Amino acid sequence: MSVYLDGQFLPLAEAKVSVLDRGFVFGDGVYELVPVYSKKPFRLDEHLRRLQGSLDGIRLANPHGMAEWRDLILQLIALQAFADQSLYIQVTRGVAPRDHAFPKDVAPTVFMFAQPLVTATPEQKAAGVCAVTAVDNRWLRCNIKAISLLANILLRQQAIDVGCAETVMLRDGFLTEGAASNIFAVKNGVLLAPSPSNLMLTGITYDVVLELAAAHGIPTEVRAISEAEVRAADEVWMTSSTKEIMAIVALDGAAVGAGVPGPLARQMDGLYQTFKQQVMRA
Ligand code: PDD
Repeated sequence: MSVYLDGQFLPLAEAKVSVLDRGFVFGDGVYELVPVYSKKPFRLDEHLRRLQGSLDGIRLANPHGMAEWRDLILQLIALQAFADQSLYIQVTRGVAPRDHAFPKDVAPTVFMFAQPLVTATPEQKAAGVCAVTAVDNRWLRCNIKAISLLANILLRQQAIDVGCAETVMLRDGFLTEGAASNIFAVKNGVLLAPSPSNLMLTGITYDVVLELAAAHGIPTEVRAISEAEVRAADEVWMTSSTKEIMAIVALDGAAVGAGVPGPLARQMDGLYQTFKQQVMRA
């Protein structure tokens, strides 16, 4: 497997970073995850814009222009043996003696690699997953795609420990997002999505779902969603580049709706799969 590190494409085993890299020592960096279908990166410009937003959020100058990023990413994609990829991009504040203050004149570390993209099978989609809820105890800048994911990891593990797939987070009585996904709810045929804010990462999949809903006349409300609304919802979904649209069929041990993926989840997954074939792979 070829990876990219600081200007070079090289085998994974040869990609080495100093232990003083601020990504390793402080988690001082940001990342992106771009799904690649048939060797075509999906919404690369949007991902690169989100990366720029994350870099601005941590006051780190972007080491590459958009055209340069695009070129490097396309080269990395071409080097892989597999067509559907999950492409990870990480930029850290570089290598420097440990000191909280930003180092001066230090080049950021840029690392990228691609793994085979593994999405859910139709059987898994038909079964849905269970989730648990937890208080969102992260910081207040969740719109930054920071590599320091300790809170998300601990929150996700609460679900894993009880055999579930995701932790649905609630802050001050309102839905924020999943530990590594966005969360939608459905009530009486209306799709409910939390409004983008600093309290969540606005997923590229989240945007696609809202676009597909608008294009196909699915009534949608983008607004604050209370815990009570989540618990009384007919459907709850998690969405991400890798999970796509996955129905949550049980929450904290209680059935969501009928306890099986609901009609709108199945419709949206169908629309998403068609979109993938006709637009993402085209
Ligand atoms: N994470 N919210 C959080 C906290 C996430 O980590 C993710 C995705 C999303 C959904 O974003 P998108 O639709 O662009 O994938 C929302 C990726 C998959 C990850 O960290 O592996």
